[in-house]
Amino acid sequence: MTRLKILAISGSLSKKSLNTQVLHALRGLAPDSAAIELAAIDSIPFFNADLNEVPASVNALKQQIEASDGVLIATPEFNYGIPGVLKNAIDWVSRPAYASVLAQKPIGILGASPGPVGTARAQGQLKQVLSGTASDLFPFPELTIGQASNKFGQEGQVEDERLRASLTRFITSYCEWLERRVL
Ligand code: FNR
Repeated sequence: MTRLKILAISGSLSKKSLNTQVLHALRGLAPDSAAIELAAIDSIPFFNADLNEVPASVNALKQQIEASDGVLIATPEFNYGIPGVLKNAIDWVSRPAYASVLAQKPIGILGASPGPVGTARAQGQLKQVLSGTASDLFPFPELTIGQASNKFGQEGQVEDERLRASLTRFITSYCEWLERRVL
């Protein structure tokens, strides 16, 4: 059986990140046809066009994106926008412009926050950034997870039944969308 290879990127470096927990949860809820691997962006330096060599951490991320059938990004919302670490990682892998590993890459986005708006504003910004990379965005109603701190248990398990149902719907539809494109 062909397995979809999905790369999941969290926009948070925190060990207790709600967004990373969401990605771990999706791993458990995804159909058997999909394998979700989490990417690490914590050792990516600040982008600087003067650097002569692309850092190894950036090349590793580029390779992971290239080898994947699709990418999932779970973004926190910082001051109504996406975190700098996420924007920095996207900027690094976005070259050459319109022909990078992100060009035409099928990307699904979602996000979690303790606040009521659940990253809606950051997701809007992320969509704009990903149109600059010519990526293909998963056309799904925004999955915004508000009051997220109350929805996970000590071990990161989804305690909230409605959230589990939403995440299952999201990852199932995303995989079906990928399958229609890949197979
Ligand atoms: C926040 N937080 C936040 N939350 C939100 O819903 N809207 C916002 O605009 C902001 N702004 C913001 C700015 C800064 C600098 C920080 C540190 C935090 C709260 C944020 O959603 C919360 O810290 C999340 O837990 C971050 O995501 P992870 O790390 O848990 O995935």
